[in-house]
Amino acid sequence: MIDKPISQEEFLKFREFFYRKTGIQFEDSKRYFVDKRLIERINATDSGNFRNYFVTLRFEASGEELQTLTNLMTVNETYFFREEYQFKCLVSSILPELTVNKKDNRPIRIWSMPSSSGEEAYSIAMYLLEYWPGISLWDVEIISSDIDTKILAQARRGCYSPRSIQNLPKELLKKYFRQNGDEYQICDDLKQAVEFTRVNLMKAADVRGYRGFDVIFCRNLLIYFDDLSRRQAADTFFDALNPGGFLCLGHSESMSRISSLYQVRKFADSVVYQKTKEAQ
Ligand SMILES: C[S@@+](CC[C@H](N)C(=O)[O-])C[C@H]1O[C@@H](n2cnc3c(N)ncnc32)[C@H](O)[C@@H]1O
Repeated sequence: MIDKPISQEEFLKFREFFYRKTGIQFEDSKRYFVDKRLIERINATDSGNFRNYFVTLRFEASGEELQTLTNLMTVNETYFFREEYQFKCLVSSILPELTVNKKDNRPIRIWSMPSSSGEEAYSIAMYLLEYWPGISLWDVEIISSDIDTKILAQARRGCYSPRSIQNLPKELLKKYFRQNGDEYQICDDLKQAVEFTRVNLMKAADVRGYRGFDVIFCRNLLIYFDDLSRRQAADTFFDALNPGGFLCLGHSESMSRISSLYQVRKFADSVVYQKTKEAQ
């Protein structure tokens, strides 16, 4: 068991380290949340104290403990049809404009980042199938990524609680899910429509291969970042988007103060950000 509590100095050391690794910034008010999880892992790894544990976190070649701790530190709150107005905007404004301008026959590529347990990516798939006539004419690829390997396993399983599905129209629940006791299992067709991958948005090596997207949803992640990490995220998404591609953020998030790379587009259902057609 841990031999003494986490000191203020140790907390600050950890906070700086974790911020550099993930972009997540813990305020002082999160001290209890952070300490609780650190102590849990110090005990689980028989490290005895913070100092020994911190050595493992920094130098373990496999990075396994850092991943386990990251999985504990993330906030995975999400649900089906969260901020639905953006899915409406996708089918009624973004995709019609994109498809008119698309000069090749390549699939429309959508990146839902971060995925958490997958509700956002599956909601996008359902929305396209239900409300976008273009689905019969265009191939669509939906890729969904998160830093948290445990939550990604849950997303791939596609099994949801009543709380997760409470905003879903009853007819869609019936059409795309099978009820199993208290849980709702998403159907195989939707599962196959989304590819889930592990990506740390703050790690250049992780995001390098993510290119050629027409639409990116990055909702309810930037709220955990400071301005520096937000700027880095803005640059990453810019590189990942095709010219003319769109970036959709959460309702309390904005690019305007963070980056001048994007054009603000005010559609009837939502404000979104666009990489200009001339940009490379
Ligand atoms: C609150 S959820 C948002 C899920 C979904 N986009 C939504 O709006 O409902 C935030 C997610 O961000 C993930 N996350 C945190 N830092 C990340 C990073 N550096 N790279 C990728 N994902 C990250 C967490 O694991 C968590 O699942």
